[in-house]
Amino acid sequence: GDPSLDALIADLAVDVPDFPSPGVVFRDLTPVFADGPAFRRVVEGLAAPSLVDPRAAALAAGGAGPGYDLVVGVEARGFLLAAAVALDTGLGVVPVRKAGKLPRERLSADYSLEYGTATLEVHTDSIRPGQRVLVVDDVLATGGTLAAAITLVEGLGGIVTAVSVVVELAALGGRQRIAPHTVHSLWST
Ligand code: PRP
Ligand code: ADE
Repeated sequence: GDPSLDALIADLAVDVPDFPSPGVVFRDLTPVFADGPAFRRVVEGLAAPSLVDPRAAALAAGGAGPGYDLVVGVEARGFLLAAAVALDTGLGVVPVRKAGKLPRERLSADYSLEYGTATLEVHTDSIRPGQRVLVVDDVLATGGTLAAAITLVEGLGGIVTAVSVVVELAALGGRQRIAPHTVHSLWST
């Protein structure tokens, strides 16, 4: 039969030592995205209704559908995934971008990640108060990036009902950083 999804991702992903800086082992997922059947399974896994955080879902009214009304993707690799999840679920997609890219009124959050610091931004009118949001990215490392994205969504009144990533680098503690939000990873390593 088909290999398990975590085994498939582990088989296709490539570890690159000392990229982008010494001591970092970069988990390159581009071969996963380049494989049609693997990409489809990844997108469906990220979108799965079972991913809904029961804590947050209980706060949100209505229970039908996937448990979220909107998909947020984090620049840049998260864009590949979030757009595909949005198409798969029939929902819209909103970009959380690196500073200086969005043209209109925006909310900003500074953060640090495994190999640097940066600023993320979102258009202030892109999420309405009470909208239930799935936040998608490729890799959860220290969790700085997703914590900043969640801060932005919540700063606009959105309710983060699920957070999905392809790979979680468990030793870096990102899951603890994101708590009490539950992170749903397709492969934990
Ligand atoms: C990578 C990755 C996550 C983030 C995870 O993005 O795509 O967004 O790092 O790291 P953290 O959990 O330590 O915050 P990067 O900033 O390299 O941007 P890119 O997607 O534009 O390559
Ligand atoms: N983002 C942060 N840390 C990463 C890593 N080790 N591999 C790929 N993307 C990352």
